[in-house]
Amino acid sequence: MADNQKIVYITRRERFNAAHKLYNPNWTEQENEDFFGKCSNKYYHGHNFDLFVTVKGIANAETGMVIDLKLLKKIIKEEIIEKIDHRNLNEDVDFMKGIIPSIENIIVEIWRILDAKIVNGKLHYIKLTETENNFVEYYGE
Ligand code: NI
Repeated sequence: MADNQKIVYITRRERFNAAHKLYNPNWTEQENEDFFGKCSNKYYHGHNFDLFVTVKGIANAETGMVIDLKLLKKIIKEEIIEKIDHRNLNEDVDFMKGIIPSIENIIVEIWRILDAKIVNGKLHYIKLTETENNFVEYYGE
């Protein structure tokens, strides 16, 4: 393989904060509380999320880039951050309507949106951290 055919993985991090509660509307209040505990608190709670978006590709011979990070930043900001930052994930985010806003479900929706928008390189991986100790990873499968 020629040097300019090397596959590289390039990552942009963005941050947002948002509120949510883990709550299944098909269950009673008591069932929700028993299963989700304080995560189901009806007054919600917030997190500072880190979102890592990795694009895979071969650097363009003219630009040296798999994807221009300014473009990747713009896509993530416009498609995700502006719709989710400082919002309530249960009530106020269009792409989470009707979906329990667990990090597992959030990351799958983020993938669906970004995958359709990234045309330079291919979306390879997303990581979403909710706390220092809890995060999810997704490869689109
Ligand atoms: Ni939470």
